[in-house]
Amino acid sequence: PRAGLVDRHGRRATDLRLSVIDKCNLRCTYCMPADGLPWLPAAQLMTPGEITRIVGVGVRQLGVTELRLTGGEPLVRRDLEDVVAGVRAAHRDLPISLTTNGIGLAARAPALARAGLTRINISLDSLDAETFRRLARRDRLADVLAGAEAAAAAGLTPVKINAVLMRGINDHEAPDLLAWALEHGFALRFIEQMPLDADHGWTRADMVTAAQIRDRLATRFRLVPHPGARDGAPAELWDVRSVPAEDESEPLGTVGIIASVTEPFCADCTRTRITAEGRVRSCLFSHEEVDLLDMLRAGATDAQLAHRWRAAMWAKPAAHGMEHTGLDSPDYVQPERSMSAIGG
Ligand code: GTP
Ligand code: 5AD
Ligand code: SF4
Repeated sequence: PRAGLVDRHGRRATDLRLSVIDKCNLRCTYCMPADGLPWLPAAQLMTPGEITRIVGVGVRQLGVTELRLTGGEPLVRRDLEDVVAGVRAAHRDLPISLTTNGIGLAARAPALARAGLTRINISLDSLDAETFRRLARRDRLADVLAGAEAAAAAGLTPVKINAVLMRGINDHEAPDLLAWALEHGFALRFIEQMPLDADHGWTRADMVTAAQIRDRLATRFRLVPHPGARDGAPAELWDVRSVPAEDESEPLGTVGIIASVTEPFCADCTRTRITAEGRVRSCLFSHEEVDLLDMLRAGATDAQLAHRWRAAMWAKPAAHGMEHTGLDSPDYVQPERSMSAIGG
């Protein structure tokens, strides 16, 4: 691609995160309000054909090399297999991953693998049924656990597990979550909670920081920086070793820490986003979206779509601005839309 999705700060986006639906069947407190949000009418969502078209513009004209499907909860779409198969038919070698809460995955993992999905990340914040229910406001822990095992069995690997820690709610579970992930061969990542909840209830004091996560894990494991380049990936990787130091050969596995707030990686960001209603969002934290789907439905050419997408990305903000200052500072304004509406 001649120019690709470059922005005025010199970054190039190659990693497309596309939301296929805004709906979700959980109500995680850090993401959605208890009563849900007004869902988009079905007619405003992209069809599998429209998704294939938009991904095609990204890949052929704009240098997109990776696709991640997000939501809301992507499995709420009954035709997710068709979405994957459609993109796969057009792009034999494109990595296609899925970020999901895992509900319903036990039944659908084999078909998703057959449709051409590459790998899966599953959100799971607690292994305790009561804590899970409190956090996700739904009693679905067993479905998620079954989903994770099914994903691995279907070969959708590495299966990554995303855990957001909240002080006094699930932060004490960090070592248990890691022990469980190591035992099952899942790649666990802990995530600092970001102020993207619909209730606007985030506080800096309640956020469990990357440093605190490392301290918690150090009560049961030894973390050693994982060798190798990070390459703009959000997670900082650590090799996990036992305490006390006995066997220095192979680590037990790795753990990732995604420190979006205290150790931001905006300067290396390689992402471009499409929301469930087909709009370009240059950053999780941007305050602007640029419509592609309306234009596509009005008969735009691939070149016209690419032009508008590129223009939207040029305006990508340099950084989210929440790292050094309080949320009351003018540097950070929480986006109007919650995480579920933006698409993770
Ligand atoms: P991998 O390719 O498997 O590393 O996926 P990923 O980590 O990029 O995607 P996933 O959907 O699993 O997201 C994990 C976490 O990364 C999310 O919970 C967010 O907290 C964080 N994240 C994803 N995208 C962004 C982003 O653009 N900016 C920031 N600050 N955090 C992000
Ligand atoms: N802060 C950090 N991570 C979040 N996620 C959802 N809301 C937030 C938030 N406010 C995570 C989910 C999922 C991923 C896509 O984003 O747990 O794993
Ligand atoms: Fe649903 Fe994911 Fe939001 Fe939880 S974080 S409510 S699983 S969209």
